Amino acid sequence: MCGIVGYVGDRQAYPIIIAGLKRLEYRGYDSAGICIANPDPKTYKCRGRVQDLENKVGQPLPGSLGIGHTRWATHGEPNDDNAHPHTSQHGKFTLVHNGIIENYTELKHKLEKRGYNFVSATDTEVLANLIEYIYMKGEITPEMAVRLALSKVVGAYGLAIIAHDMPDCLIAARKGSPLVIGVGDSEYFIASDSTPIVEHTNRVIFLNDNDVAILGRNQMTLKTIHNKSLEPNIQKIDLDIEAIEKGGFDHFMLKEIFEQPRSIHDTFRGRLSAEYDIHLGGLLEHIPALTNANRIIFVACGTSWHAAQVGKYLIEDLAKIATHVEYASEFRYRNPVLLPNDVVIAISQSGETADTLAAIKLAKEKGALVLGICNVVGSSIARETVSGVYTHAGPEIGVASTKAFTAQVTVLIMMAILLAKKRRTIEEDTRKKLIKEMMNIPQHIEQILKLNPQILDISKKFVDATNFLYLGRGHNYPVALEGALKLKEISYIHAEGYPAAEMKHGPIALIDQTMPVVVIAIKDHSYDKIVSNIQEVKARKGIIIAIVTEGDTTIRNMADHVIEIPAVADIVSPLLTVIPLQLLAYHIALLRGCNVDQPRNLAKSVTVE
Ligand code: G6P
Repeated sequence: MCGIVGYVGDRQAYPIIIAGLKRLEYRGYDSAGICIANPDPKTYKCRGRVQDLENKVGQPLPGSLGIGHTRWATHGEPNDDNAHPHTSQHGKFTLVHNGIIENYTELKHKLEKRGYNFVSATDTEVLANLIEYIYMKGEITPEMAVRLALSKVVGAYGLAIIAHDMPDCLIAARKGSPLVIGVGDSEYFIASDSTPIVEHTNRVIFLNDNDVAILGRNQMTLKTIHNKSLEPNIQKIDLDIEAIEKGGFDHFMLKEIFEQPRSIHDTFRGRLSAEYDIHLGGLLEHIPALTNANRIIFVACGTSWHAAQVGKYLIEDLAKIATHVEYASEFRYRNPVLLPNDVVIAISQSGETADTLAAIKLAKEKGALVLGICNVVGSSIARETVSGVYTHAGPEIGVASTKAFTAQVTVLIMMAILLAKKRRTIEEDTRKKLIKEMMNIPQHIEQILKLNPQILDISKKFVDATNFLYLGRGHNYPVALEGALKLKEISYIHAEGYPAAEMKHGPIALIDQTMPVVVIAIKDHSYDKIVSNIQEVKARKGIIIAIVTEGDTTIRNMADHVIEIPAVADIVSPLLTVIPLQLLAYHIALLRGCNVDQPRNLAKSVTVE
């Protein structure tokens, strides 16, 4: 949600910042801007993408210090005025911001009374002017002014600031919104995540809340907003540049769908052994708490919430522990009851989702043990939770989550089997069989991916559909939700996921000869019931697209389209059933001319509430 890039060093800043912004465009893409100080500052900004900004700038701007931004609008519509950077009224500070200043109205009124006028509708311009006002009032350094201003701010921020009276330095500050500093040779980078940095250096510092960094060409000072000096914790990150490029695919989403055999393998590599053991190092210490948990409560948002729903089915089914799934945004505000021995597990791809972070903090305040399942190493959620499991899916750039979902489900399957073993709620033979099945999942997905041309053909028939229904039961009900979400997100077709049997309590009224109904109808324990649900749809002339187990002739004779997947145990089936749904959404969106990697109004990482 908004991407920030900053550079100070001996090289030209402009190409580094533009390339970095392009890497961060998945975070927001409604406007973009850049300021290069040479030392005379030049600022360009506009509605649209980074490419529009480049077109507007024309020739690269010379200079070796600068900041840039790609925006996902919160305060003020996407237009040139509201685009970042924002410069204070008297030109002393230029800054880019990710987050929300919640008390900006009050601060703005105060500044207006002191003669400040505002050109934008943003909270960020208020902050720029507040820093300047404090700076010009007293004999203080720009950095002190930043710290004093931030102490008056309520809300969240990741900031990169140029103080024009200190033109050799950048100031970075963080509270609630992620910010990473890249440490090069006589150069520093600032970015919202590591992806713009890895091609320059693998040495990074993840800023903590209330940290302020002052970055010169050859030196860095780190302190808190209360002026307490801090020792920078420089970490080496292991992020491969190829992993953040498209690698010959037309879109990141398609690349990430096709990566799933490998990403799932990466998720269980070193954790499933040939001796049928499961080793989840981050949970080791907490196994007693988990096996004796009164309840497991998952908190998550979006696709991660769907993975959590799969987790609930798995853990209750195998380990017999009562499991609840909460939207983090609801959990954090509804004063939830946490009982002794409840364990809260946050699930997040980015590790930066504001609502999930707030839910974690609340659960900690209430005394719960809070664990995490996270993809991004070193992210805020990974650091805020006591311990947990990384999904190791690699960077996910497409806004619609695909490989992160299957990696989360892979972790949850492992967790459920592990807990079941410890609680002796699973037969040894079943446990071994499931582990073996998991090991075969990558090759089963390879097989499903070969159906891509068939799924494209099916997609062509539904380009003009206006509504879709997705049905599933049991472990595959959350997959129906996820399939519908994928279609909505990227094709802008209205789609609803439903537990198949609930269809008759409402959605069945929508069914006519124009309504495509995607049914996950594999041969699991609810197969006969779902066959009946298909008949109910056909009786009302609905169009059935069925995901079936290979060789199923019964449904082939009833459905309009069938997509066959290999036969696997119910428990692991969500890892397969979701793949055709991802491809269906991808093709329909593409055929409708939509931008699949950067769908309108969405952002990959939602760092505001
Ligand atoms: C956004 C993304 C979704 C994601 C959700 C939760 O809405 O577009 O793809 O599922 O945030 O994100 P998280 O990073 O916490 O999994």
